[in-house]
Amino acid sequence: MLLLAIESSCDETAAAILQDDGTVLSEVVASQASLHAEYGGVVPEIASRAHLERILPVLDQVVKKSGVTLKDLDAIAVSHTPGLAGSLLVGLMAAKTLAMVLGIPLIAIDHLQAHVYACQIAHQVPIFPCVGLIVSGGHTSLYRCLNPLDFELLGTTIDDAAGEAFDKVAAMLRLPYPGGPSIQRIASQGNPHAYVFPRAYIHDKEKLRFSFSGLKTAVRYQLVGTGKQSFEHLELDDATRADIAASFQEAVVDVLATKARHALQMTGLKILCVGGGVAANAALRERLEKDSRRYHFQYYTAPLKLCTDNAVMGAIAWERFRAGEWASLDLDISPGVVRMH
Ligand code: KG4
Ligand code: ZN
Repeated sequence: MLLLAIESSCDETAAAILQDDGTVLSEVVASQASLHAEYGGVVPEIASRAHLERILPVLDQVVKKSGVTLKDLDAIAVSHTPGLAGSLLVGLMAAKTLAMVLGIPLIAIDHLQAHVYACQIAHQVPIFPCVGLIVSGGHTSLYRCLNPLDFELLGTTIDDAAGEAFDKVAAMLRLPYPGGPSIQRIASQGNPHAYVFPRAYIHDKEKLRFSFSGLKTAVRYQLVGTGKQSFEHLELDDATRADIAASFQEAVVDVLATKARHALQMTGLKILCVGGGVAANAALRERLEKDSRRYHFQYYTAPLKLCTDNAVMGAIAWERFRAGEWASLDLDISPGVVRMH
């Protein structure tokens, strides 16, 4: 059985042809990072227009690379929630059109559930029930994941996502977009204890909430002082830049790892699965590895290219396919996080 999965929830136009035994016949990811770089973050209008230009070439390419034809497909799966409205619409319209023309089922993918499922795909072991930590440019949330398709929200950010903080702090340090990999690179030369940046709610064991806007402001104040100073005349030596990047990264990692541990304690679960772009961060991975040994839990994450947005994690659609949960052709997008099961 063969599935074509389409992902366009943010700024990657991705497609994959997946077999029900786990084989990936082909995959394509067209990144838009260069288009958004000069703005230091994803511009929704640019993202949706770029998806529109890329979706058909990406679909052509993924079919060509797979060695099968559209007629061989048994289902079309697509991320329809959450994400940027205009971006989601492009993937959804392409998927619906294919499902209708080919006369095969349409399967709805919850993008956040797919990020957690990426851990199962990567490790080929059952990961459910587990605590899911999703950290990306748009999300920082903890879930009790009962099974691949039933998630309960335990806590989320009250303002920015962790990836957004990486991107904005990188812009302050005049590092290229996306900020996460840039900060990780220079942080490796810095001292993570040079500055003590705030770790919001880290001691609040009752509520699993996050906040990163104060951390962003603290970095700003460290760089230019309080008040209205601008970044224009800021002169930064490499050592200070590396120390600030390392200390900022340390604060984010400390918060994410500590709150994940609180979620494990609160739920009594013994498995932690981490997905989303920030899960690619080496310092976070190292800290969670260490914590898993120290606090006796199992920690799974995916290889880097399965952490950032991709369509291979669309294999979660087989779970709905097998359960007979096919979407109707009037499936709509849900840009916000409104429904997890
Ligand atoms: O999951 P993703 O590809 O897209 C969505 O936001 O859905 O995540 C992108 C985010 C960006 O904010 C990027 O800066 C961050 O993930 N990121 C990282 C790393 N690689 C990507 N953050 C920290 N360290 C990294 N190595
Ligand atoms: Zn994502």
